[in-house]
Amino acid sequence: MTDTSITADLFRRACGLWATGVSIVTTADTAGKPYGLTMNAVSSLSLDPPMMLVCVDKGSDTLAPMLASRVFCVNVLTSAQQDLSNRFAKKGHDKFEAVAWHPGTVGAPVLAHTLVSIECEIADVVTGGDHEICCGVVRDIIANDSVDVEPLLYYGGRYGALGKA
Ligand SMILES: Cc1cc2nc3c(=O)[nH]c(=O)nc-3n(C[C@H](O)[C@H](O)[C@H](O)COP(=O)(O)O)c2cc1C
Repeated sequence: MTDTSITADLFRRACGLWATGVSIVTTADTAGKPYGLTMNAVSSLSLDPPMMLVCVDKGSDTLAPMLASRVFCVNVLTSAQQDLSNRFAKKGHDKFEAVAWHPGTVGAPVLAHTLVSIECEIADVVTGGDHEICCGVVRDIIANDSVDVEPLLYYGGRYGALGKA
């Protein structure tokens, strides 16, 4: 049943009050061509086995190659990577041009200088409305050991950073 008082704008604004980090979820098609999109509908899912889930819009150009190769990598952005977030939030251009990355253990692109990159193999895909929920088993983790890196945050439709303590 659809409640018509819940407009898309109201729902978008409500969801915007959930403060999140920002990631670029990458994949590669079966020929190794890289794809990716900016995402915050990302979550840890299971500890045993270690699993992550990502909720990808059915209209995303990244979805078909992800479903074909069955791999993705969650690249968690630092506060210095806002430009990268904007770049991967736009469709229809070469997002990887002049971006430093290498193919990770499962084949999905691992971006340079992130907070952490979590590489997964897809175990399950569940449809959720106009999104596909891709559940992946974690196969590798590459963490940034630098002490002074901070996460890029997203709240109320705007980027933010942690306030200094
Ligand atoms: C902060 C932020 C978070 C986003 N989160 C998601 C998300 O969780 N899932 C999604 O499908 N799109 C999300 N988007 C939108 C995609 O990044 C955008 O639609 C992108 O153009 C899709 O690219 P593609 O079609 O090349 O895959 C987000 C955008 C921004 C700026």
